[in-house]
Amino acid sequence: MARKKVTVVGAGNVGATCAHWIASKELADVVLIDIIEGAAKGKALDLAQSGPVMDFDLHITGGSDYAASADSDVVIITAGVPRKKKPDGTYPSRDELVKTNQDIVGQVTREVVKYSPNAILIVVSNPLDAMCHVVLEESGFPANRVIGQAGSLDTARYKTFLAMELGVSVRDIHGLVLGGHGDTMVPLPRHTSVAGIPVRELMAEDKLQAIIDRTRKGGGEIVGLIGVSAWYAPAAGTVEMVEAILKDQKRVIACATLLNGEYGYEKLFIGVPVVLGSTGIEKIIVMDLNDEEKAMLDNSANAVKDVVAVLGY
Ligand code: APR
Repeated sequence: MARKKVTVVGAGNVGATCAHWIASKELADVVLIDIIEGAAKGKALDLAQSGPVMDFDLHITGGSDYAASADSDVVIITAGVPRKKKPDGTYPSRDELVKTNQDIVGQVTREVVKYSPNAILIVVSNPLDAMCHVVLEESGFPANRVIGQAGSLDTARYKTFLAMELGVSVRDIHGLVLGGHGDTMVPLPRHTSVAGIPVRELMAEDKLQAIIDRTRKGGGEIVGLIGVSAWYAPAAGTVEMVEAILKDQKRVIACATLLNGEYGYEKLFIGVPVVLGSTGIEKIIVMDLNDEEKAMLDNSANAVKDVVAVLGY
């Protein structure tokens, strides 16, 4: 079997940690690309040198030249400016970053597709749903090969909080989070279970609502603690998607995908459950939402539309 190859653009916190999880799962050779050549080269070398100890055998390289990324199976785009404290002590919203990251993500995408015309692109840069539109536009790829990472992270946070509250294994929590990647995201308690037992049989409504609220603000909670945005769980969520694609697992994961009429939205990226396999998004699953859930998804879609409007496409 030919070796698989994954390029990670942006060798910052999220990108380097994606490389780390990919290596630890021995999924593929990794190329780290960053505008700061030394950072990409140095982190790749450091990670490669952990192979003899951590027992993985992969080619891990880094630099600024996209030629090294040629013929990647998957390209993860994390380049951009993260949410960081401004000099006045406040934090920019995800939406404030839209224009800066549009330029960065657009330029990165054009370089990536020159060398890997058949790759599947996973978008991580924020504001996530809007950046998916940028990557779709700039790559010219079919929509099944442009996938946004958000649902896997948001769902992982939701499951973690539920497991902490219930004192049970995270492995036994099932559920998913739809919508845009932001405060309007839509955790679905009606579809959440503990080993198949509806969560509402096990948890009081006020506790459940508090967890939903904490999930929605999960990114902000970490920014508030560290001062920059999170990286372990965002990278883990991304690598869950990479693994599903490289191993053709047909995993059902909430991902930002281009909807063309599904859920009543036209030409809009938003998080919904999809089947992920070797060709990327192999199926969009349309759930039977009740009025309350649909209203929350509409609210989230409207928030995404506001940001997408800033792009000017
Ligand atoms: N080309 C390549 N790399 C770039 C470019 C560019 N044009 N512009 C910036 N970068 C690189 C930076 O040099 C940096 O190493 O992108 C990297 C971003 O890393 P961090 O600043 O550490 O940000 P990180 O926390 O990894 O977040 C990256 O993912 O979760 C999202 O909101 C987050 O949009 C942000 C992205």
